[in-house]
Amino acid sequence: MTMDNNKIYQDTPGKKNIIHLNNAGSSLMTQQVLDTQIKHLNLEANIGGYEAMAQMSEELDQVYNSVAKLINASADEIAIVENATVGWAMAFYAIDFKPGDRILTVEAEYVSNFIAYLHMAKEKDVSIEVIPSGEDGELCLDILESMIDENVKLISATHVPTNSGLVNSVAALGDIARKHNILFMVDACQSVGQMPIDVEEIKCDMLSATSRKYLRGPRGVGFLYVKKSVIEKLHPPIIDLRGAKWKSATEYELRNDAKRFENWESNYAGTLGLGAAIDYALDIGLENIQTRIDELANYLRGKLNEIEGVSTHTISQHQCGIITFSVNGIEAASIVNKLRENGINTSLSEPSSTLLDANKNKLPNLIRSSVHYFNDEDELGKFISVLKEIIN
Ligand SMILES: Cc1ncc(COP(=O)(O)O)c(C=O)c1O
Repeated sequence: MTMDNNKIYQDTPGKKNIIHLNNAGSSLMTQQVLDTQIKHLNLEANIGGYEAMAQMSEELDQVYNSVAKLINASADEIAIVENATVGWAMAFYAIDFKPGDRILTVEAEYVSNFIAYLHMAKEKDVSIEVIPSGEDGELCLDILESMIDENVKLISATHVPTNSGLVNSVAALGDIARKHNILFMVDACQSVGQMPIDVEEIKCDMLSATSRKYLRGPRGVGFLYVKKSVIEKLHPPIIDLRGAKWKSATEYELRNDAKRFENWESNYAGTLGLGAAIDYALDIGLENIQTRIDELANYLRGKLNEIEGVSTHTISQHQCGIITFSVNGIEAASIVNKLRENGINTSLSEPSSTLLDANKNKLPNLIRSSVHYFNDEDELGKFISVLKEIIN
């Protein structure tokens, strides 16, 4: 399918009310995602939650196929969980770290992931080392090669960090991880839904993502991919009757698929909504989505750079739909609030969300504008003129 902008605009009810440039925070759901969830909630209210689950069992199974198709995996490698953080943590805390193990990560690593590394360092005496990036924002792969030894247990990287628009070259990390037989984990929370993601190409062992961001799905749902050959090596930190079978007074048996990382109780309306969101994105095509996002982001970056007093903060040639900027002499929070009063959603990006990168690049609080394919040039023009009014 090619991009049918009229249909896309009609399918996006929120577009009538606001200019939504907070797609990296939580995007606008399509009418289809909304209807899917409401239909299931109605079913739960009318026939009972367990009965609704049973009635929709085929559709619920289908969601795993949709996630698998989205990232080129198979359905038994997918766990559907509460959010990206739960997915990521279920995999990370399942790794059998030993004292002396080394974790290699990236400069623009996401706050919650880094906190988990620090926690693991405290609990298990592992070390955390950062793969440097060059002046151009690109990962220094030759330095990474020289950092590898038999104690490197995990390479773990955020694909698209929360700010700056950087797209880390995860496939290049995957090549090195695979060559040295090191576990490789990718936080694809901000990239899934805005560009094609292929776990075979990235060569990752684990990958986590959320529904509400570029996938345009509901809040409170996410997923985890774990490569088939790795699943059996990972014991989830929390298991219940979903992930394991109770065999006897002294035994349980873990499932052999990725559902071992799930809990029994789940938000089924949200899961079905996630499926509808993925199917919608697949229908449009992830290449088409990425092309339109790039077009709009380049347009917006150009317009922002023309405004006196505005500095965009981009640290790499590989950019996506996220554009962060600051305004000379005006606090970012105040700009975000004034934009919102004018019907324009952006968000505040604080240094603490990517602390190492923010310290290195001396980043202040930033305004984050994140475009999606359902935005258009008219909206971006309005955003620019409102911003100019706020500044002057
Ligand atoms: C890079 C990155 N990873 C993980 C997360 C956490 O996602 P969730 O809130 O769905 O757990 C975020 C959220 O902003 C993020 O930007």
